[in-house]
Amino acid sequence: MWAVAARACCRWTDPVTFERMWAELAPVGRSARTGGYFRQPWTSPEVELRAWFVEEAENRDLRVEVDGVGNVLAWWSPGGSAGPAVLTGSHLDSVRNGGAYDGPLGVVSALAALDLLRERGFSPTRPLGVAVFAEEEGSRFGRACLGSRLAVGAVSWASVRELRDADGVGLPDALEAAGLDPGDTGPRDNLAARIGCFVELHVEQGRDLVDRGAAIGVASEIWPHGRYRFDFTGEANHAGTTRMEDRHDPMLTYAMTALAANKQARLAGMRATFGRVETEPNGTNAVPSRVTAWLDARCDSDAALAELVEVVTRQATERAGRDGTSVSVTAESVTGAVSFDADVARVVAADHEGGDWPVIATQAGHDAGVLAAAGVPTAMLFVRNPSGVSHAPSEHAETADCLVGVSALADTLERLAGS
Ligand code: GLV
Ligand code: MN
Ligand code: MN
Repeated sequence: MWAVAARACCRWTDPVTFERMWAELAPVGRSARTGGYFRQPWTSPEVELRAWFVEEAENRDLRVEVDGVGNVLAWWSPGGSAGPAVLTGSHLDSVRNGGAYDGPLGVVSALAALDLLRERGFSPTRPLGVAVFAEEEGSRFGRACLGSRLAVGAVSWASVRELRDADGVGLPDALEAAGLDPGDTGPRDNLAARIGCFVELHVEQGRDLVDRGAAIGVASEIWPHGRYRFDFTGEANHAGTTRMEDRHDPMLTYAMTALAANKQARLAGMRATFGRVETEPNGTNAVPSRVTAWLDARCDSDAALAELVEVVTRQATERAGRDGTSVSVTAESVTGAVSFDADVARVVAADHEGGDWPVIATQAGHDAGVLAAAGVPTAMLFVRNPSGVSHAPSEHAETADCLVGVSALADTLERLAGS
C-alpha cells in the first residue's frame, strides 16, 4: 500500500524538452502519402527509435539494459536506492499506418517525467526505470505484447522461436538483422520478480475522456481479447467458365463469417473485427483456393469471449458445409481479463487538484496488462485523444494534455519511488 500525500497538482513540465523529443520522433516511420506510421518491430524505423531511446537514456546517466528481443530498461538508481523497483514506459512499435501517439507518448512522457522529478530535486529511494517493450502490437509475428510476455515469462522462447512473419522471416533471424542476439534460450530474467510496480501512460484510444471533459483518466481494467486465424480452403477455378453452382469458393465462406462475427458482436454488446485477409492465388479472374482471415475479438468477460468465438466458429463451419469448403480456427494470441491494482490506481488518480481523475475500462491491449497478469501491481494513465481515433493516422493528443500527463506521471512516480 502506498501513501497518498496531498500535493499541488500538475506542477510545471518543461514543454521544450517534451516538444524536442516529440519532434525528433515525428519523421521516423511516417508515410508521406498517408501521414500514418509503420514502425514494424525489428525493421529500420523501430531500430532507429530504440537507438534514439538508448541515447536519451544515456544522456540522462540512466543505466541501460537491452535483452535478447530488444526490450530496453533504463534505470535511475542513485546510491542508496533499494527495494522493489518502480517501472514506467510503453512501446515504440506501431500498427500498419497507425498514429504517432500509441506507445511513444508513454515513452517520451516517462523521460520527461524523470526530468521533471530531477528539477524538483527528487531522488528515488527505490530504483526507478523506464521500459520500452518490443513488438507490443504484434504487427510482425502476430503475438500481441510479445516483448513483455517474454520478459515476464508469460510465453517461453521455445514456444515462439519458430514464428515467421508474413515474408517468411523467422523471429531469430529478424532479431539478428536488428543487431540483437536472442541466444539459445532467449530472455532469461523474469522481469516480474524484479519490480514492485509498473505504471504505463498511454494515449486514450476511444472517446471516453473527450465525453467526460477530462484531460487524464486512470484505467480500471482491460477487456479480455484475442486473435484467431481462420483458414478457409476451397477449390481454385476459372471465374468465367465455372458455373456458380459448381464452385467451392472460400471467399464466400469468409464473407459470411465476417458478417456473422459483426452481428454476433453487436447483439452481445462486444467487439469483433476482421481487419486482415489474405487470399490465394489473389487473381481477379480466379475463384480462390484459400482465404486466411484474422478475427480480433474483445469482450467484457473471459466467458463472453469464449462464447463469441465459439458462435462465430460454428456459423463458419455450417456455412463451409454449404459452400463445399472447409474452415479451421487457430487461436494465435489470447489475453484474459485484467484488473489493475486498486492501490496503485488510487495513487495515480489522486493526482488532480479538482478531484480524482476518472477511472475507465479499456478494450485495448497493453504491456501493462501483461505485467498485471504476471502479478505486478500495475496502473495506467490515459491522455485524452480529441479525435477518439486510434490505430489510424488521425490519432491525436494536444500538447497541453500531454504535459498534464507528464506532471501526473511524475507525481505518481514520486509517490511510488519515494516511499
Ligand atoms: C493494441 O493496441 C491492441 O489493442 O491491439
Ligand atoms: Mn499501445
Ligand atoms: Mn496499439
